[in-house]
Amino acid sequence: MSPSNGPKTLWLVLLFGTGVIPGSPNCPAKCTCQYLEVNCTGQQLQLFPTTIPLDTRQLILANNNISYLPSVELNFLSDLVYLDCRENDIGEDLDFTFISVIKLIYLDLSFNNLTRVTFTTFSQLSSLVVLKLSGNPNLVEIEKDSFANNTWLRHLDVSQTGLTFLDTSTVKDLPNLKSLGLSENLWNCNCSFLDFTLWMKESGVRFPDPENISCYSPAALHGWSIPEVESKLHYACLLHLHETDYAFLGLIGFCIFSAGTVAAWLAGVCAVLYEFHTSKGEGDEEENEDEEVALKLFPDFQRC
Ligand SMILES: *[C@@H]1O[C@H](CO)[C@@H](O)[C@H](O)[C@H]1NC(C)=O
Ligand SMILES: *[C@@H]1O[C@H](CO)[C@@H](O)[C@H](O)[C@H]1NC(C)=O
Ligand SMILES: *[C@@H]1O[C@H](CO)[C@@H](O)[C@H](O)[C@H]1NC(C)=O
Ligand SMILES: *[C@@H]1O[C@H](CO)[C@@H](O)[C@H](O)[C@H]1NC(C)=O
Ligand SMILES: *[C@@H]1O[C@H](CO)[C@@H](O)[C@H](O)[C@H]1NC(C)=O
Ligand SMILES: *[C@@H]1O[C@H](CO)[C@@H](O)[C@H](O)[C@H]1NC(C)=O
Repeated sequence: MSPSNGPKTLWLVLLFGTGVIPGSPNCPAKCTCQYLEVNCTGQQLQLFPTTIPLDTRQLILANNNISYLPSVELNFLSDLVYLDCRENDIGEDLDFTFISVIKLIYLDLSFNNLTRVTFTTFSQLSSLVVLKLSGNPNLVEIEKDSFANNTWLRHLDVSQTGLTFLDTSTVKDLPNLKSLGLSENLWNCNCSFLDFTLWMKESGVRFPDPENISCYSPAALHGWSIPEVESKLHYACLLHLHETDYAFLGLIGFCIFSAGTVAAWLAGVCAVLYEFHTSKGEGDEEENEDEEVALKLFPDFQRC
């Protein structure tokens, strides 16, 4: 560091450390602290600020250049209920990031660089009510049990991501879900998606910007909105038969035909056997009758 730079840096530290934040001795540089709230909005921070008061309830890091949330520093803040990290560059695996901040109710990670959400990512946040994940263009996968432990979740936003598919079980077992952002994603409206569209129709959940929830692929359905596409998928996936279905039906037909042939053949054999048997019996009777007739006509017949 050059000699002329040293005093300037010191002066800056003194300015931010004392002047700007009255009454908060350990408020991080470039942040304002009041009433258990630390606000570091729009300061081009590259790193998660250190020296955040441990009793902080609300931490606002919006609009910075933070690429990494350090698990240790973050988890010292065990009273945190509100964490706003929107518009940063957070892209690392978050699976062991939110371990002890279990009182968290509001978590905003929108407009970052998240890539994947798994069960571990939010499994300790069982008080979570609001979770914003929108605007993460590289977010391509949300595992189906990702929110299994977040039963208080009320508002979930996964709009404007790279998602092409969301398993219905990911959201259908959230008893308190009121609003789910799905717009401006690259939904792949194949037959696996039908179940999701049916759930959307029946769930009673609100979907903001419904006109911007549309299919990206397959090409034939590109641009169609989800409510419109539901009946098409219903027809294409449930009523329309595929080649394998035809093969299956053919096999069933063949089985029925074969069974019929065998049954007819057996019935024929039985009929012939029965006829043979009864005609033999009748023959005996006829012989007896003949004998009786002969006896009547020729009383001496037997004696002969
Ligand atoms: C945080 O600070 C920014 C400006 O620095 C301000 O616009 C914003 O309203 C503050 N947020 C809260 C929750 O106080
Ligand atoms: C921080 O991010 C903003 C956009 O969010 C960008 O314009 C700016 O150049 C970045 N600053 C640094 C120091 O990386
Ligand atoms: C986002 O993450 C990907 C890899 O996961 C990386 O290649 C890319 O540079 C990141 N983008 C930004 C803006 O940090
Ligand atoms: C689910 O949340 C509870 C707290 O309500 C926690 O004790 C438990 O460890 C979590 N389950 C898993 C598998 O992380
Ligand atoms: C539908 O698309 C999703 C993702 O694009 C894929 O995971 C799934 O296997 C596909 N389902 C079918 C039946 O092709
Ligand atoms: C839908 O998306 C378009 C293009 O991205 C955007 O201009 C429009 O404002 C969106 N509509 C709503 C209601 O957000």
